[in-house]
Amino acid sequence: MSQGNPILIENLTLTLKKKLILDSVSLQAEKGKITGIIGSSGSGKTTIFKCLLNLNLPKDAKMEGKILIFGKKPKDIPRRLVQPVFQDPISFFNHGWNLRKCLQEPLKINFKLSKEEINFRIETILKEFSIKEKALEQPINRFSGGELQRLSIIRALLCEPQIILMDEPVSALDVIIQEEVIEIIKRINIEKGITILFISHDIDVVSVLCQNVYVMNEGKIVEYGEITKILDKPENTYTKELIDSRNLTDIKY
Ligand SMILES: Nc1ncnc2c1ncn2[C@@H]1O[C@H](COP(=O)(O)OP(=O)(O)O)[C@@H](O)[C@H]1O
Ligand SMILES: [Mg+2]
Repeated sequence: MSQGNPILIENLTLTLKKKLILDSVSLQAEKGKITGIIGSSGSGKTTIFKCLLNLNLPKDAKMEGKILIFGKKPKDIPRRLVQPVFQDPISFFNHGWNLRKCLQEPLKINFKLSKEEINFRIETILKEFSIKEKALEQPINRFSGGELQRLSIIRALLCEPQIILMDEPVSALDVIIQEEVIEIIKRINIEKGITILFISHDIDVVSVLCQNVYVMNEGKIVEYGEITKILDKPENTYTKELIDSRNLTDIKY
């Protein structure tokens, strides 16, 4: 692993009201790969994303350590280049708008484009994802959860990001829709070479998507490795428990 990786976190420690939320977390996301962070609820995964996106940390949070995105501090990186996708996609969109307006917005904010060019880019990307053009006139609150998650990925792609941070993007979806969104995530990684950091509590999902995985428990990274190695030869007790719990349920993929 080199210093040149798109995301580099070293010894990140975060305390909130004297509670240790992140305990000396170090991780890297390699260029063009999908890196996973897996851990149960409350282990600190979303907090890492908030640090990377430079957002929403409570005022009394104390942070130490190093976070570099393309060698710079998160606050010095144009937001366009690092796009988030969250569990609840509706929070991304303005409920009163139709899809066209929702997709025009990121293009207006981030690029200097004519109206024609904006609409051309939107129509092109919809074709790429087999979404009918007439969907553009539909109010955003009439799309299903799965459709909205696909659209929030499309919205992120319109910004032409180099990194996408995904926080439980398929956790709220039915299994069939999950599979469709997983295929889209794989596709944008392969076809567009976008570096993805993918957070999930679901080892099945992580195992079909990620090449490398960090296992988190109670604010600490307890294990790291290639997904095949983690699944076949877990070393940490918590990782073993995660994998055993997987064997007890139906394996979906
Ligand atoms: N704004 C906050 N105020 C107090 N505690 C918080 C806040 N945000 C997160 N936490 C605590 O930080 C820990 C990690 O949370 P989080 O990063 O959301 O975990 P995960 O995403 O892995 O479920 C949890 O114990 C949670 O209760
Ligand atoms: Mg979370």
